[in-house]
Amino acid sequence: MAMLKNRINHYCHLIEEQLNRFVPETSDSYNLLFEASRYTLLNGGKRLRPILTLATAELFKADPNLALAPACAVEMIHTYSMIHDDLPCMDDDDFRRGNPTLHKKYDEGFAVLAGDYLLTRAFEILADDNRLPETIRVQLIKQLAQASGGHGMIGGQIMDLQAEKTDPSLETLEMLHSKKTGALIVCAVRMGAIIGQASPIQFQLLESFALKMGLAFQVTDDILDVTAGEKKRGSLHSSDVANQKSTYVSLLGIEQAKQTAESLQQEALLSLKQLSLETSFLEALLQFVNQRTY
Ligand code: IPE
Ligand code: IPE
Ligand code: MG
Ligand code: MG
Ligand code: MG
Repeated sequence: MAMLKNRINHYCHLIEEQLNRFVPETSDSYNLLFEASRYTLLNGGKRLRPILTLATAELFKADPNLALAPACAVEMIHTYSMIHDDLPCMDDDDFRRGNPTLHKKYDEGFAVLAGDYLLTRAFEILADDNRLPETIRVQLIKQLAQASGGHGMIGGQIMDLQAEKTDPSLETLEMLHSKKTGALIVCAVRMGAIIGQASPIQFQLLESFALKMGLAFQVTDDILDVTAGEKKRGSLHSSDVANQKSTYVSLLGIEQAKQTAESLQQEALLSLKQLSLETSFLEALLQFVNQRTY
């Protein structure tokens, strides 16, 4: 456990240092854009997605510096998605990571634009990273665009809005979760695998690990929305209940949702075990994030 936490802290340190460099404060007259973006970007997320990119690349003994910019690009897309997700026209949340959401701290226009900025900056960073060969950069850009796009995260977010106040089938909910949350988690792992030059079989196993992990991650997020309350968002109220969201908890109840997360975790583990690589960190990370309390 101490080793796992040390390695997580080490990765978080690298990621945050780099994010800080990628989105610096400026003396431009429009510096408030960067200040607002930094407010959420550097505001203590768990950094799961970039950690996955770094740890996956490391499975193949790739130079960790090669994976750092791609890892930060995924985290920027994730942060933008959170900023927009919290807006009044979406989930209307006032707190994120224990602090006021961006639109509460600044205003809604700033939240829209800071999200837009982080989204575009992520692709600029990937295109600019001349430590990676151009062919690899193009592959990473394509992966990130697809995962965050209409058939990925944004598609999932639209499904999420459409499913409010409805009773979707479990199959539809699984697709919704796989897109809104799973897609970026899969992308984070795929990017590490591309940088590490995984074989097609290794790539496939890592992908299936990430798909299950991503789904388990969102099922646990649904559970925490009702059980963690104040700790998760600074509010005593469940945002999902207020918005009449369709979640694993609303569909199955807490106990069955917990069982679903557990079996997804086991399936993810099975894919990892089939890789003949040193996957103990990813195994421990998988367990750690599913036992999280925020
Ligand atoms: C929260 O993501 C929203 C989901 C997609 C489930 P995280 O739980 O990874 O959020 P941070 O970045 O650690 O705050
Ligand atoms: C967020 O899902 C998914 C994305 C923003 C892509 P949620 O709406 O469940 O995330 P939280 O609970 O607000 O963190
Ligand atoms: Mg949402
Ligand atoms: Mg939300
Ligand atoms: Mg949630």
